[in-house]
Amino acid sequence: MTAYSIERIREQFPILNQQVNNRPLVYLDNAASNQKPNAVVDCISNYYTSYHANIHRGAHHLAQLATEAYENARTIIANHLNAQREEIIFTYGTTDGINLVAQTWGRRNLKAGDRIVISGLEHHSNLVPWQMVAEENGCIIDIIPVLSDGTLDMVVYDQLLEKKPKLVAVNQVSNSLGTVNPIAEMISKAKNVNACVLIDGAQAVSHFEIDVKRMDCDFYVFSGHKIYGPTGIGVLYGKKDILEAMPAWRGGGEMIKSVSYQSFSVNELPYKFEAGTPNIADGIALGQAIEFVNSLGLNAIREHETLLTQTATQRLLEVPGMRLIGTAEEKTSVISFLIDGLHPYDVGTLLDQLGVAVRTGHHCTEPLMHALGIPGTIRASFACYNTLEEVDLFIEAVKKATQMLS
Ligand code: ALA
Repeated sequence: MTAYSIERIREQFPILNQQVNNRPLVYLDNAASNQKPNAVVDCISNYYTSYHANIHRGAHHLAQLATEAYENARTIIANHLNAQREEIIFTYGTTDGINLVAQTWGRRNLKAGDRIVISGLEHHSNLVPWQMVAEENGCIIDIIPVLSDGTLDMVVYDQLLEKKPKLVAVNQVSNSLGTVNPIAEMISKAKNVNACVLIDGAQAVSHFEIDVKRMDCDFYVFSGHKIYGPTGIGVLYGKKDILEAMPAWRGGGEMIKSVSYQSFSVNELPYKFEAGTPNIADGIALGQAIEFVNSLGLNAIREHETLLTQTATQRLLEVPGMRLIGTAEEKTSVISFLIDGLHPYDVGTLLDQLGVAVRTGHHCTEPLMHALGIPGTIRASFACYNTLEEVDLFIEAVKKATQMLS
């Protein structure tokens, strides 16, 4: 048995052990959401069956247990990102984290004529919130173009930085193509012109170790469900001094220090940004998900996924009419492709009939699809539990679907 035992890993994901359309399920939609190990599912069940209570305010035993577990999850996340506990804000997910920054830091700091640089690879969630601020404040959004291999045009990035943007907001990894952006270089260049930097880590957290201090970004956001954790929970990391200077966003309980009929004062970090009863169960379970990932080791996961991705990529090229979309040298375990003459949706539907789950469409990156001149793609994405046998089943299914549709 090797250190990375795929059998042992799969035992922890019983959902994978099922038939879909009378075929073994081959789950390759991991970039949309990966599956949850027993430890995460049990953690949620255990919370509700053993110690559910509202947190932070109850004087009783269950409230104390729930508060400790929730705050312990925050500590696990802070340690995982190399951040301080008060710099970790629980959100509903990546989209919520970016909206929080846009509606607080953005509305406070971005004025008419100020520039925001984002990349052409961004998910709608790292575009629309800035468009909303720009519509209100009159700031300008500049886009780093995407080259034909799916990498960013760094020459244009340098030129855009010469215009002294107030903010650079980019993803670490493209959800549609899997391109890994050179964020160390991008952040250091942005810092040279005093731009604030937000990194969308949604597609990075299940593949890379993240050290926000070394990265020196101002904000880092991700979703729990992309790192083997629950949906409806996510994290916003922000540098403490920046978070302290930001106005609160949602008002209500928990985010206040004191309230009169006329006014309120805000609570300390991180609670200032956590109005209302939080998603306690899923916050605790996100801590569990991070422990799961760390028990396997992100380097080991990446090595395994790289083997699957490289094998699948080579074999896909055997399929007549195959066109890979996004061929950057640095990629995660995402393969986006098209087959000449076939609509992505038709291919996806046939793959589903053959038991293979992929995603088709624009992947919430409509402008990127327009820039590439394509309607969308078929996207397969691998996670820690996928196997080389599944790569075989995937390739056979693509070949069969192609024959049936041609
Ligand atoms: N953002 C998710 C994806 O890329 C939903 O599929």
